[in-house]
Amino acid sequence: MTGLFITLEGPEGAGKSTNRDYLAECLRARGVDVLLTREPGGTPLAEKIRELLLAPSDEAMCADTELLLVFAARAQHLATVIRPALARGAVVLCDRFTDATYAYQGGGRGLSRERIASLESFVQGELRPDLTLVFDLPVEVGLARASARGRLDRFEQEGRVFFDAVRSTYLKRADADPSRYRLVDAAQPLAQVQQSLDRLLPEILERHRG
Ligand code: TMP
Repeated sequence: MTGLFITLEGPEGAGKSTNRDYLAECLRARGVDVLLTREPGGTPLAEKIRELLLAPSDEAMCADTELLLVFAARAQHLATVIRPALARGAVVLCDRFTDATYAYQGGGRGLSRERIASLESFVQGELRPDLTLVFDLPVEVGLARASARGRLDRFEQEGRVFFDAVRSTYLKRADADPSRYRLVDAAQPLAQVQQSLDRLLPEILERHRG
């Protein structure tokens, strides 16, 4: 049996965590072995790297340092958590993955697609998500939700231009590969977002059965 690798993406304030938990519950209720995890993070070491990435600091972090930290955390997460779970046949639900690198370090920071792609191949080999749900919403709505949550992390402190680029990168990637990406309108009320997820369930179960 092979597992199914599903990633959830989107800008700040898109409700990814709530929807990730909802999707996990729906799948578990149908007897599916679900591994819920997140990036950057998902292992004790990768969570320490997450802290470095998210903490505001007086020393500005170079874009290349940021990129390498993201992939360092990913290498650890893949080797010790994601690959073993896929090998035992689980559905892995991962809150952010390499699409976030293309959106934030690529779109937001302006690093080239090629540089990111070469690290993607180095760290992941052939492994790519089977399905990616992009929770999309207008930048100002997401930023308002994020600031209502309290203290802003290093990424949330970025401005409008950065997040416009993040959003448009996600949308371009989703548009270029409809077989992998599903766009979810995250500006709708939560009940409607969850109905969109309900509609995706048969496809997820079907793909998992393979
Ligand atoms: P979040 O998971 O709580 O949304 O926060 C993670 C932050 O890390 C978010 O602002 C996006 C950022 N991030 C990157 O910049 N690159 C990446 O590859 C990943 C996985 C996350």
